[in-house]
Amino acid sequence: MTRLIKLSKNRPDLKLLKPAADCLRNGGLVAFPTETVYGLGANALDEKAVGRIFAAKGRPPDNPLIVHVADAATVKKLARQIPPKAKRLMRKFWPGPLTLVLKKRREVPDIVTAGLDTVAVRMPSCRIALALIKQAGVPVAAPSANLSGCPSTTTAAHAIHDMNEKVDFIIDGGSADIGLESTVLDVSSGRPVLLRPGKISPAQLERVAGPILLSKGSPKIPKSPGMKYRHYAPEAQVVLFNCGEQDMKIRKLALQLSGEGRKVAVICRGSCGFRNGPSREFKTTAAMAKGLFASFREFDRMGVEVIIARGVPEKGIGIAVMNRLRKAALKA
Ligand code: TXA
Ligand code: MG
Repeated sequence: MTRLIKLSKNRPDLKLLKPAADCLRNGGLVAFPTETVYGLGANALDEKAVGRIFAAKGRPPDNPLIVHVADAATVKKLARQIPPKAKRLMRKFWPGPLTLVLKKRREVPDIVTAGLDTVAVRMPSCRIALALIKQAGVPVAAPSANLSGCPSTTTAAHAIHDMNEKVDFIIDGGSADIGLESTVLDVSSGRPVLLRPGKISPAQLERVAGPILLSKGSPKIPKSPGMKYRHYAPEAQVVLFNCGEQDMKIRKLALQLSGEGRKVAVICRGSCGFRNGPSREFKTTAAMAKGLFASFREFDRMGVEVIIARGVPEKGIGIAVMNRLRKAALKA
């Protein structure tokens, strides 16, 4: 049975987390909010518990998990080495939506890191997430709380949709502020490599850590294993237009597809004047980041067959939005 704990987003009564924190420590699974997306947590030092995460999500075993901590000091117990750049990044961006890949200690079970010699760590800024990890008293391995291959969950309702009866607790802490997963940066050797873009942009990282490599475009650089899977994708087919595309072109394609009897929806920043079906028009790029996965899920629920999305400029969080849109638009 899955138990639900509901907390107020602005004034959470953190004592209510106790049964979930105890359960986490003792090998249970708990879905919880973070500032990025909902996570599906287990005690990172308990192999059996971590195994349950892979089973609940249907996640391929070669895709490693992020270990969440409530304080930077815990990283010393997980990582063999914390280079000066990593320390600077932690000081600047933690707690927050930045995951760092470091050389791992033997104590971190192989199942967490999919056998790699590195471990990904992150200290979330969400108060509920931090309190849960702290009360559990153990580092918490947590992928996003969605079925493998589906969009990440950004509300408790979506986490319940994917994870009900598969986990012990789901904590409802309202909708996730950022809506896209954390930036993942490999700082385990030499020049840092960006493995997944997120709210913290390459420019922000470079101001603190100096030049970084973008894994995109360079086949020589090993990618984050998780990035090879079709991710973030709704059931519907996604057609992506670039950010400068005219409203008229988008409306024309939408009308043509509807004319062929296909159920069409539109996602864009600003307006594109499509009124012949469902649409989500976001005021800003940040609003689009926040609502993107929820709109994918909403359109799937409505039986939409084709989602036409207009991209956003690739700066700041727009880089992450475009990364997710491109992945969603890839054919399976
Ligand atoms: O915002 C987030 O990061 C959320 C919340 C819950 O914290 N978590 C999340 O986890 O998005 P997940 O499992 O959906 O994505 C983790 C990504 C995957 O692409 C995985 O391959 C990569 O991080 N990763 C984990 N450990 C790694 C490692 N040792 N080396 C390289 N990539 C790693
Ligand atoms: Mg995920």
